[in-house]
Amino acid sequence: MGLGARMRRLFGQWGVFFEGFLQHPKMVGSIIPSSRFTIRKMLAPVDWGNCKLFVEYGPGVGTFCFPVLEKLRGDATLLVIDTNPLYIDYLRKTIRDSRFIAVHGSAADVEDIVRAHGFAEADYVLSGLPFSTLPDGVGEAIAAATHRVIRPGGAFLVYQFTAACRDFMAPHFKRIDAGYEFWNILPCKLFWGWKDES
Ligand SMILES: C[S@@+](CC[C@H](N)C(=O)[O-])C[C@H]1O[C@@H](n2cnc3c(N)ncnc32)[C@H](O)[C@@H]1O
Repeated sequence: MGLGARMRRLFGQWGVFFEGFLQHPKMVGSIIPSSRFTIRKMLAPVDWGNCKLFVEYGPGVGTFCFPVLEKLRGDATLLVIDTNPLYIDYLRKTIRDSRFIAVHGSAADVEDIVRAHGFAEADYVLSGLPFSTLPDGVGEAIAAATHRVIRPGGAFLVYQFTAACRDFMAPHFKRIDAGYEFWNILPCKLFWGWKDES
């Protein structure tokens, strides 16, 4: 039995996350899921009453999915997109909620994925993607597609260990609020890019 499979058996959710890291270290970018402090701070500005579609890139083993579903309206949808089939299979098996959709694909295709599920736009997009280690051009494409898919007044919520993601957001989002969470392994930077109302 390989190290990944042994970790999965020993540590459950964290083991699955670590197995995904061993498979694709640059795409996962972290060996441990986000802390509850990061989750709380990142989601604080969301206007849940006006959220019909919440999209998450790189959900991993669903660290943010449960807190988002707790806050989400009964008639709203959480659509998550991840390139790693190990994580998507795990999420489909563990999250039984009619508001939840898990898609195996790339965040770069968010517009097609959102339309394929019957939506014209997203209210909020959350990203845990390791922007600084994504293949060349992918971060730029994701930031541009995300700006197009978010409704006016909606936001792109991004957390990362470095501020590199801000460079990808800046050409598209005029207003970017910034925060920091120490209680995370590693401490991380938080950004909220707001799409202009117009
Ligand atoms: C740092 S992990 C985030 C884990 C989780 N959101 C958390 O907070 O604990 C990054 C995730 O991004 C996924 N990923 C990497 N590139 C992607 C892409 N282009 N589209 C969608 N997901 C991607 C990886 O498979 C991994 O699940």
